[in-house]
Amino acid sequence: MTDYVAATRVFYDAIAEDYSAHFRSVGAGRPLERAVMAAFAEFVRSSAGGGGQVADLGCGPGRVTAYLDSLGLSVFGLDLSASMLAVARRENPGLRFEQGSMLELDLADGSLGGVVAWYSTIHTPDERLPALFGEFLRVLAPGGYLLLGFQVGDEPRHLDQPFGHPVSMDFLRRRPDPIAGLLTDAGFTLVSQTVREADEEVGESSPQAFLMARRP
Ligand SMILES: C[S@@+](CC[C@H](N)C(=O)[O-])C[C@H]1O[C@@H](n2cnc3c(N)ncnc32)[C@H](O)[C@@H]1O
Repeated sequence: MTDYVAATRVFYDAIAEDYSAHFRSVGAGRPLERAVMAAFAEFVRSSAGGGGQVADLGCGPGRVTAYLDSLGLSVFGLDLSASMLAVARRENPGLRFEQGSMLELDLADGSLGGVVAWYSTIHTPDERLPALFGEFLRVLAPGGYLLLGFQVGDEPRHLDQPFGHPVSMDFLRRRPDPIAGLLTDAGFTLVSQTVREADEEVGESSPQAFLMARRP
């Protein structure tokens, strides 16, 4: 396991309970987030594979996993952090959650109808993104869909001692166009790029991007 993956796991193990409590009221997000997820669910259900399994990679406490389940998708969550997974299992007893890294998925080629990486690629360094997107493509069946969510910007946001815990982490912000370019370089067909402005009322400091792509 590389240093940044281990550091990410330590960070989220420390903050899992507080992170979950903080985001509980947000649910799967605001109207645009829910609209994008609804479109993703419809695409997956009507795709060539007839709507195979969906993996919520970097699922954290499982709030998005639960929302995708409520949209009728057959979904499971995967995360690095044992503490996040403990919260996810406790709060969503009917759903399946597994531990692992999305950089090396223990899944067969072409075995999924959809992949969601909702604010979970934000700790993967730029130089590892081509390999990560290649891994997403590998596990998707032809006609399967990928959905990414991430903060928009050029500079990382450094978080020190969140919720009073003695840990710190960089949150990488990115521009949608270069990410879309990396997705097409990896072999995806781009479906949509949605960007909404920062909602300052809830303390956001950057716009948010939601990219959808399809394995041809
Ligand atoms: C900002 S949280 C987002 C959690 C969830 N998707 C949500 O929207 O609430 C990022 C999550 O991604 C997970 N993560 C980061 N890198 C990962 C990797 N390489 N493999 C699996 N999980 C990862 C972290 O452990 C953490 O739970």
